[in-house]
Amino acid sequence: MSQTRFAGARRGIGIAAAVIGVALLTLPFTSLSDAPLLLLFVGRLHPLVLHFPIVASLLALGLEVSRLFFFKKLPIVFTEILIAVATVSAWVTIGAGYFLYASGDYSGEMIVQHFWAGTLTGTGLSIAFALLLYYHTTGRLYAAFLAALVVTNGMVAYASHLGGSVTHGQEYLAEYLDMMRAKGASVGRSEQELLLYADLVSPVIEARCASCHNRQRAKGGLAMDSYQQLFGAGDSNKPAIVPGSVTKSEALARIHLPESDDEHMPPEGKSPLTADEIALLTYWVESGASDTTRVWGARGVDSVRAVFDRLMPELQKYQLRTAVSQKKNAVVYEQLQQLAPSLGLTVARDSLSEDNKLRLSSSVPPHRLTDESLRKLAPYYLDFSSLSLPSSGIEDDHLYYLAQMTNVRTLFLQKNSIDGSGLVYLSNMPALETLNLSFTRIDDRNALELLKFPRLKKVYLFRTNVSPDVIKAIRRYKPGLEVLEESGPYR
Ligand code: HEC
Repeated sequence: MSQTRFAGARRGIGIAAAVIGVALLTLPFTSLSDAPLLLLFVGRLHPLVLHFPIVASLLALGLEVSRLFFFKKLPIVFTEILIAVATVSAWVTIGAGYFLYASGDYSGEMIVQHFWAGTLTGTGLSIAFALLLYYHTTGRLYAAFLAALVVTNGMVAYASHLGGSVTHGQEYLAEYLDMMRAKGASVGRSEQELLLYADLVSPVIEARCASCHNRQRAKGGLAMDSYQQLFGAGDSNKPAIVPGSVTKSEALARIHLPESDDEHMPPEGKSPLTADEIALLTYWVESGASDTTRVWGARGVDSVRAVFDRLMPELQKYQLRTAVSQKKNAVVYEQLQQLAPSLGLTVARDSLSEDNKLRLSSSVPPHRLTDESLRKLAPYYLDFSSLSLPSSGIEDDHLYYLAQMTNVRTLFLQKNSIDGSGLVYLSNMPALETLNLSFTRIDDRNALELLKFPRLKKVYLFRTNVSPDVIKAIRRYKPGLEVLEESGPYR
């Protein structure tokens, strides 16, 4: 075999790669509390650079396989370049990922697993790279290199899957599979049996209107979550639906208004109904707004047949999605029924929430909540809409965990040992509307943090250390926030 070019350089790079690869493994044990902003910025690059090692290592494997079987003359230096790219970009990805993690925006078991899987993948790639360089200079250990490359590709796939689960939620990948399964299981009904109202109209209203117009939250005084209620009226005293008359039906009138009109429904910010959805509702009202008409009968009408054909697949998908999310909710509910009692908590459905969220309360008499119990709830943080945790030994630091429950609208924290230094965490909660801090040691300085809460409408400050002057100041600077000096509700 002729002398390999740059053998010395290759040997040096190979050794360096192997050393860096092994050194990576110390990262998960390194703690970085006060990262400089520049590094936090680098952390945000993680989602961008991670695509390089994924693609490059896959291409390297593909190239190597085709070199083995088809293009035996292809020089190995091409594989070498690809693996070099994969390895170096993996180092950058892992470094950036580490700083992203250090930002404290992520927590939970899954992120730790992802961190480990990512680092091990980096080590694997570095070793594969070193083995390839060794093989290139000495002609030995090819099988070891190939094995390392195959294993590393598997690790890349696993690490990316965990990473995807961290960003999109654990079920992201399986969502459509679940839907396909649900479809197989549902008893297929023939088109003759489908009802115009129950199978077509109602899902549209449910998807587009009922989130604001339901019994718990009737915007404009109008609920639309049952058939009967559609014929009632809201604040305007005009019935939402008048069978046979599109012009007299307030709901239809508003749907037909130009989008720029203040009274157009759904309101600004929500996407308007499609032409097909409007045609469907219009036809249904004109034909008498019955709940017994079958779709099949209506198909005879030329103008609506095409509309049905276009809407049907959408609605089936919608129904499947609802079925799957109901199933998921049921699973979460079950798991929490197991977990909560062991933490001194109870979980119930929150009847005030639109989307099946849950209420978490301390049991009676309350237990002390600890860092550990709050961490155990991490997989369910987004499932809660209401927290009732009076006298639960909550301290300011614990508010960091509560702040990650970003769907929470009501939070009752009375009789806990907080002085308000942790309110900074809560000040980012995007949905929080009601906060009860009565019987706590909140003081003047920390109370001013309340001015930053984006959606807060009510705060209870009975028996705290907040002075009347500061309460006056809060009322003046944030008129939308009601400051109540009473003990307030517990649930
Ligand atoms: C994002 C929330 C939201 C959604 C979604 C929404 N609405 Fe409304 N709706 C409101 C609010 C707020 C009002 C009260 C203000 C007003 O009258 O404009 C209202 C008022 C109404 C009223 C008048 C009630 C009365 O008697 O005064 C009707 C009718 C109505 N909506 C129909 C609909 C229909 C039909 C849809 C679905 C296509 C829909 N809305 C979707 C928020 C919503």
